[in-house]
Amino acid sequence: MTLAPSSSVQNQSRISCESKSSTDVFNRIGIAGTSKGLTKVLDTARKVAKSDSSVLIYGESGTGKELIANSIHQNSSRHKGPMVVINCGAIPGELLESELFGHEKGAFTGAHRSRIGRFELADQGTIFFDEIGDMSPELQVKLLRAIQERQFERVGGSTTIKVDIRVISATNKDLQSAIGDGLFREDLYYRLNVIPIHIQPLRERREDILILSDYFQKALTKRVNGYEKKTFCKSVQQALLSYDWPGNIRELENLIERISVLIENQTIELHDLPDYIINNSCENISTSVTSVFDSGIGFNQAVDQYQKSLILHALDETRWVKARAAELLKMNRTTLVEKIKKMKIEPKSEMPVF
Ligand SMILES: Nc1ncnc2c1ncn2[C@@H]1O[C@H](COP(=O)(O)OP(=O)(O)O)[C@@H](O)[C@H]1O
Ligand SMILES: [Mg+2]
Repeated sequence: MTLAPSSSVQNQSRISCESKSSTDVFNRIGIAGTSKGLTKVLDTARKVAKSDSSVLIYGESGTGKELIANSIHQNSSRHKGPMVVINCGAIPGELLESELFGHEKGAFTGAHRSRIGRFELADQGTIFFDEIGDMSPELQVKLLRAIQERQFERVGGSTTIKVDIRVISATNKDLQSAIGDGLFREDLYYRLNVIPIHIQPLRERREDILILSDYFQKALTKRVNGYEKKTFCKSVQQALLSYDWPGNIRELENLIERISVLIENQTIELHDLPDYIINNSCENISTSVTSVFDSGIGFNQAVDQYQKSLILHALDETRWVKARAAELLKMNRTTLVEKIKKMKIEPKSEMPVF
């Protein structure tokens, strides 16, 4: 169960983000990254922070959904009130109702005294429903009413309690298809999804990887007494850039902390990284450079091979949408198309081409 005003986030340094006017400052509260995707998210967050609209944040696990929810709360007029987090996936269905609405003494076996729920705790603040897609359809009906009317009764109680709350939800599920499968109520979906925010997975905003790595290292120098920032050699940077990050920023954060603490040398070398990162990174400069010398293919052929693998990688990443691949490579689309033709690069047979 999580009930926290995310104090760890609050305590992080505040970096002021570029804003439209001096009165329109958005505090990023420990959010690092400069990718287009993140900039767009922050721009939307800045706008919605000024409103009381419901926000639904989509994104894979570890992409920063809770962090963004927190930044919206902290930048809103409710920032002096609480941000109450409820993880709908972590609390068993039968307990969730009383967690949300509280209960009266004797409401069910074991309810020895009355207890207030998260809705009441969030009064004058923000309530954040994490993993909203995991909530049972029965509870979704009760949630809809509470959100719509901003009032509810405790379990086993008859007094109607009114609250003043702002609702932010997050999910890593495709709620549209959950609606199709009868697992998520459409009326609740529209109520929650007034302002949707999509956070891209880290593998789709690789520009942020080294910035985040640096940010987490700097955070360590503040947290760990006597810790000095380490240097990541080129091959380590390349491996971090090429790895797919299924656990997203949470995985990167943990890795940076682990290697920074366990490796005592000042420079982090490729062999200091866990094998799964080295093996899963698509290209690894140090290995490929050595193999060029070993194979004796020479400069021109090696450069051609490297270009080809970069292009293939970008095309695979973007499911062969050439305009997007060109964007990823920071290359003109026409140049990319020419290179694909010249190098006879072809999609794998099962891959749909756009
Ligand atoms: N842009 C970012 N800059 C710095 N830290 C980040 C960023 N995005 C996420 N994090 C950190 O990564 C971890 C996972 O983020 P979280 O918001 O819990 O993700 P989610 O809710 O999507 O699972 C947290 O420790 C968070 O502080
Ligand atoms: Mg989360």
